[in-house]
Amino acid sequence: MVSSLDGFIAKKDNSVSWLDGTGHVYAAGVSLSEEQAATFVKAIDCYVLGSRTYEHALELGWPYGDTPTVVVSSRQWPPASNSVEFYSGDLKTLVEVKLTPRYRNIWLVGGAMLCQRFLELGLVDEIRLTMAPVLLGEGLRLFGGSVTEQRWNLKGVVAYRNGFVELAYSASGA
Ligand SMILES: NC(=O)c1ccc[n+]([C@@H]2O[C@H](COP(=O)([O-])OP(=O)(O)OC[C@H]3O[C@@H](n4cnc5c(N)ncnc54)[C@H](OP(=O)(O)O)[C@@H]3O)[C@@H](O)[C@H]2O)c1
Repeated sequence: MVSSLDGFIAKKDNSVSWLDGTGHVYAAGVSLSEEQAATFVKAIDCYVLGSRTYEHALELGWPYGDTPTVVVSSRQWPPASNSVEFYSGDLKTLVEVKLTPRYRNIWLVGGAMLCQRFLELGLVDEIRLTMAPVLLGEGLRLFGGSVTEQRWNLKGVVAYRNGFVELAYSASGA
């Protein structure tokens, strides 16, 4: 997920311009080539989205290509593309019975509500959190704002030339 410095992942009006760089360059930072970014995305076997994140992704322009995508929702949806599947029910069953036997690298996109549930249920083995160099003041809280206390192990830090910093954590014991 990408978070503002004050812990928000979306603005109230859902606008995403805050995710753009400011033009300021952090000289010691790295930048990803298009090839590196493509290799990273190609390694993702499956995406999981909450229904609100799905709606937003449709509005912005579908970024997940043909990669299998599961949308978690209790609502009925009009048919989507062949790569999109809707799921309603127990999240542990989704991960352990439906997804893990088929996919290795499962990327939980969000949003806050779904991530919070996944964290509470112990279904996350790695957190990739990118901090954007911006304060938003208000919006949607990262992970919904309330998860129970958990320790995570820092695995990597990458600072980018655009001032974004990616933090990678693994679950304690993972
Ligand atoms: N900055 C980032 O990196 C980032 C990443 C992802 C998303 N976002 C943003 O976050 C916002 C959406 O986040 P959000 O927290 O409002 O919503 P969300 O987590 O995307 O979706 C919530 C919906 O998912 C379904 N859901 C969640 N838990 C469920 C469960 N246990 N069983 C069945 N269905 C469940 C429900 O859908 P139904 O109501 O349909 O049943 C619920 O209303 C958007 O603005 C999106 O752009 C930001």
